[in-house]
Amino acid sequence: MDKSNTFAVVTGASQGLGRCFALELAKRGINTILVSLPGENLNSVINEVREMGTESYMYETDLSDTEKVLELSQWINTNFEVNILINNAGRGGSSPFMESSVSYINGIIQLNIKATVLLTHQLLPNLMRQEKGYVLNISSMASYTPTGLKTVYPASKRFIQHFTRGLYQELRHTNVFVSVALPGPMKTNEDVTRRIDRQGVLGQMGLLSPENVAKICVRQLFRRDTLIMLGWLNKINWLILNLVPVPWKMSLMTRAVRREICGTYFSKCL
Ligand SMILES: NC(=O)c1ccc[n+]([C@@H]2O[C@H](COP(=O)([O-])OP(=O)(O)OC[C@H]3O[C@@H](n4cnc5c(N)ncnc54)[C@H](OP(=O)(O)O)[C@@H]3O)[C@@H](O)[C@H]2O)c1
Repeated sequence: MDKSNTFAVVTGASQGLGRCFALELAKRGINTILVSLPGENLNSVINEVREMGTESYMYETDLSDTEKVLELSQWINTNFEVNILINNAGRGGSSPFMESSVSYINGIIQLNIKATVLLTHQLLPNLMRQEKGYVLNISSMASYTPTGLKTVYPASKRFIQHFTRGLYQELRHTNVFVSVALPGPMKTNEDVTRRIDRQGVLGQMGLLSPENVAKICVRQLFRRDTLIMLGWLNKINWLILNLVPVPWKMSLMTRAVRREICGTYFSKCL
C-alpha cells in the first residue's frame, strides 16, 4: 500500500473509539482525515497523530445533516486520494420510546444509518481508483438483540450489519474490501461508562478497552476479515446470542436496560 499519498477517513475521531482508530492508523504510518462535531477535541487528536509522523487533516461538521455529509464528501474527493474509510461516528442511549424526543430518534437514524451509507456511497469512486481500498463500518453486539428501552439503537446497528455484508457481496470481486466490526461494551466516555456499570453483569459481557478494539479491528481489516468479532469473550457471547431464543434474550437485555435507567424513568426497579 502506498501510504505517502493516500488517506484514511475516520468519522467520530475526536474521542472514544474513533480517536483510538486515528492513533492506531498513525502507528502504522497511515495518513488520516479526521471528522467530528465542531468545537470538540479534534484539534488535540490531530496534534497527536501529526507528532507520530503522519499527515492529518480535520473537518468539523454535523454528520446528522445530509447536506453536510455531501459537502464533506465533495471536499474529500476534490482534495485527497482515499484508500480507507472507517465509519465510526455513532450515537446511542437508553430511554422509553414514547419519552424520546424527535431530535434524539432522528439523530440516531441520521448519524448511525444515513451518514454511514451516504459517505460510503460518495467515497466509493475514490476508493475504487486506488490499488486497494477498505471500508470498515462499526456495528455493535447490540445488533443481535432487539431491546426495549433502547429500540432505535440496536435496530440501527442491525441495519449497518446488513448493509455492510450486502455491500461486501456486491464488491467482493473488486479492489474494495468491505468489513463490519461488532464491538461489545467499551468504556469510551463518562456517560457510556456509567450506563455500562448500571446494566450489571449482562451489560459488561465482553468488555474491552477502545484501544484494544481499534487495534484488533485494523489488524483484522487488513487480514480481510469481513465480520470482525472482538476478543474470545465476544465470540462466545455471539455464539450464545445465536443459540438463545429471541424472546428470552430480548427480555433479558430489556431488563438490563431497565436497571440502567430505572432511577430516571421508573420509580420501581426490577
Ligand atoms: N461504547 C460502546 O460501548 C460501544 C459498543 C458497541 C459499538 N459502539 C459503537 O462504536 C462507535 C464509537 O462509539 P464511542 O463509544 O467511541 O462514541 P463516543 O465516545 O460517544 O464518540 C462518538 C464520536 O462521534 C462523534 N459524533 C457524534 N455525533 C456526531 C455528529 N452528529 N456528527 C459528527 N460526529 C459526531 C463525536 O464527536 P464529538 O466529540 O465532536 O461530539 C465523537 O467523536 C459508535 O458507532 C458506537 O455506536 C460503541
